[in-house]
Amino acid sequence: MRVHQGICAKLQGGFLRRWWAAVAIGALMIIIAGILAALFPRLINIIIDKEIALQEGSRTFDWWKEPPVTPQMRVYIYNVTNADEFLNNGVKPTLQELGPYIYLETWEKVNIKFNLNDTVTYNVKKRFVFSEELSHGSEEDLVVVPNVPMLSATSQSKHAARFLRLAMASIMDILKIKPFVEVSVGQLLWGYEDPLLKLAKDVVPTDQKLPYEQFGLLYGKNGTGKDNFTIFTGIMDITKYGLMDKWNGKSILGHWTTPDCDSVMGSDGSIFPPHITKHTILKIFDKDLCRTLPLIYQQDVMTAGGVPGFRFVPPAGVFSSPDQIPSQRCFCPSGPPCAPEGTFNASLCQYDSPILLSFPHFYLADPALREAVIGISAPEAKKHQLYIDVQPTMGTALSARARIQINLAVSQVRDIKQVASFPDIIFPIMWFEDGIDQLPEEVTSLLRMAVELPPVARAAMSGALAAIGIVVLVGALICLSRAANRQEKLHLSAPLPGNAKNDNSISPSFQNHSVKKIQGLNRCH
Ligand SMILES: *[C@@H]1O[C@H](CO)[C@@H](O)[C@H](O)[C@H]1NC(C)=O
Ligand SMILES: *[C@@H]1O[C@H](CO)[C@@H](O)[C@H](O)[C@H]1NC(C)=O
Ligand SMILES: *[C@@H]1O[C@H](CO)[C@@H](O)[C@H](O)[C@H]1NC(C)=O
Ligand SMILES: *[C@@H]1O[C@H](CO)[C@@H](O)[C@H](O)[C@H]1NC(C)=O
Ligand SMILES: *[C@@H]1O[C@H](CO)[C@@H](O)[C@H](O)[C@H]1NC(C)=O
Repeated sequence: MRVHQGICAKLQGGFLRRWWAAVAIGALMIIIAGILAALFPRLINIIIDKEIALQEGSRTFDWWKEPPVTPQMRVYIYNVTNADEFLNNGVKPTLQELGPYIYLETWEKVNIKFNLNDTVTYNVKKRFVFSEELSHGSEEDLVVVPNVPMLSATSQSKHAARFLRLAMASIMDILKIKPFVEVSVGQLLWGYEDPLLKLAKDVVPTDQKLPYEQFGLLYGKNGTGKDNFTIFTGIMDITKYGLMDKWNGKSILGHWTTPDCDSVMGSDGSIFPPHITKHTILKIFDKDLCRTLPLIYQQDVMTAGGVPGFRFVPPAGVFSSPDQIPSQRCFCPSGPPCAPEGTFNASLCQYDSPILLSFPHFYLADPALREAVIGISAPEAKKHQLYIDVQPTMGTALSARARIQINLAVSQVRDIKQVASFPDIIFPIMWFEDGIDQLPEEVTSLLRMAVELPPVARAAMSGALAAIGIVVLVGALICLSRAANRQEKLHLSAPLPGNAKNDNSISPSFQNHSVKKIQGLNRCH
């Protein structure tokens, strides 16, 4: 017993303290490695949140201001090939899907003004340039399509006084307005002079005036939009990064019956609050869509450029009628009846034109709508589903397809002879997909780095620290035990003084000897 106590005392002696210190350092390094591994993701998130917030001079700001991408808009037009038969014999309309007519776009944000409250206000400037090479067809192709201004006017007059409808009929007679027009693709999209709109502009009181005398499905879109957007920069609150605060100074649209449906709080589709999970519901606000569109996780994807992402798509019931999903009642303020299953009544955002939006080929809509016409193939998710692929950590859109079909809800009006034989029908006019396929290499390489680097850095840093800690710890322990052994041996082999008073009574020569031995152990690893 005495011998053992002696060894313990030796081990606590001055020259052994460094081994205990080494053990402590080794253990500490292992603990720090563990803490680092646990906290590293949070650390990275703090860095990401700082980096992506929109502020002048940051890299994300430049990308946000002038996205380094060339989005493409592909337009498909439903050419009516049996207009006369449809009107005279009551047969189903036969449609020929033409296109794609492809436009290369440049997007830019202009009039950027930072506000004091973590928001930035801007206008959007878009340029569309027709690409003859990529397109299947030319902008000069002549197509026959429903006369949207006329059918809007007649459908709206359904509940007006009869004499008004009769007056309308005679005006249309004089102006030779017909229910179908033959126009070029370029005119249909970018505008043609419409006699009815011109007349309305001249006679209608100023406050109800339509803003233009030309009609085009994309009229006024080539250039700087007059709407201004105010979005959150994310500097103070990253969870609002990129979300709309105000649209033209308003935080609501003023069309829908519940604050949730009416709010403009959504992203423009290019950037989203970071740290997206599979349970996140992304929201996109688009003024032509007339609402925010929710998107839910569908699948993991690998995008061009090698950046993994999540694909988000609208939930199946997004354009459901209130009969199917009661919460959709908010989008039907003047109903029932409401827009049919799978269509969205955007007339309040389209100067009261009876425009119904749907997904292309009536994807997710009542099949009866597609069967009411001839020539539209069955919808396929791959071709007709709207989606956005996002990089979840940073909230960057990697690729996207905004796919929407524009339909006209025509009501039969018997008093107007020109359209008396035009039945109640949801008439598809065109669909388009607006999208980006790939981000430029400078962006994807940064995104790849943001995805791949943190786990590697985390493993490398905490791994290295833990490895060194273990080596130090194990080495120190080995040295300690060896030292202990040796000392025990030395102790035992040393001639025991007949009457040891205490351990310090070991002869000076022995002590010197064992010091040398133990100092030798310092080089044991
Ligand atoms: C569109 O249909 C009309 C017949 O209604 C036809 O004359 C015209 O050539 C078609 N347009 C194209 C581009 O095929
Ligand atoms: C932030 O400031 C802008 C400009 O002054 C204003 O339009 C917007 O309503 C403000 N937003 C919030 C959330 O206070
Ligand atoms: C859009 O405007 C630009 C000039 O700003 C013009 O070059 C281009 O042809 C226009 N695109 C269309 C489709 O009109
Ligand atoms: C944005 O538009 C609204 C409504 O048109 C206007 O009142 C406001 O002054 C505009 N804001 C900026 C910064 O241009
Ligand atoms: C679309 O909404 C407008 C305005 O709320 C309404 O007058 C019209 O009847 C609706 N159309 C359909 C097809 O529900």
